[in-house]
Amino acid sequence: MEGTAKDVPRPVSASRSELAELMNPAYANIQGNVHGGHILKLIDECCGLCAVRHSRSACVTVSMDSVSFVQPVRIGDVLTLRAELSWVGAKAMEAEVEVYSEKPTTGVRTLTNRAHAVYVAVDENGRPKPVAPLLIETAEQRARFEAGALRQQARLEARAREKARASAPTDPTTTR
Ligand SMILES: CC(C)(COP(=O)(O)OP(=O)(O)OC[C@H]1O[C@@H](n2cnc3c(N)ncnc32)[C@H](O)[C@@H]1OP(=O)(O)O)[C@@H](O)C(=O)NCCC(=O)NCCS
Repeated sequence: MEGTAKDVPRPVSASRSELAELMNPAYANIQGNVHGGHILKLIDECCGLCAVRHSRSACVTVSMDSVSFVQPVRIGDVLTLRAELSWVGAKAMEAEVEVYSEKPTTGVRTLTNRAHAVYVAVDENGRPKPVAPLLIETAEQRARFEAGALRQQARLEARAREKARASAPTDPTTTR
């Protein structure tokens, strides 16, 4: 049987995404530091773009791993985000992103964040649908894929624990 578009593996390079944005005062607190929430939104947009490009489909975010803020981002900095898919399952896709902040007056560039986020391709009813496999072309991509598979396993275990906790009978004599 001939493969359909969704069965044909797609290389990492086909969905690699980059966003750049000048940080203006609307994104910052009164000390001039950009809100973490604004950076999280950009991370979601850049990683989500990889998922949409790979799956050629609408996608929803299902998980964002803990994000550390290594350096403050200031008004006037240019934030650049580079994301690519690190792991792809049957319906879920993990993207890895690096965020750099550049002072355009000096050219000094620093890594401010690194994060992973997971997306699921959905049909018109919002139900998960299959995506193309990821074509692994280098040893580095293979190592990333294997690390992503381990992270995904940990996420699904955490989700199962959360579901079990939510469905466990509650004891009215305790607060949690
Ligand atoms: C995404 C959604 C449709 C999945 O529905 P579901 O009934 O849980 O579907 P499934 O259990 O079949 O999981 C579908 C895929 O998502 C993955 N997945 C689901 N929850 C996950 C989580 N918390 N972390 C990582 N992967 C997850 C599953 O592993 C599966 O991928 P696979 O087929 O590659 O193994 C549903 O959870 C949803 O609508 N969530 C809300 C999404 C949202 O509103 N996001 C914010 C705005 S975009």
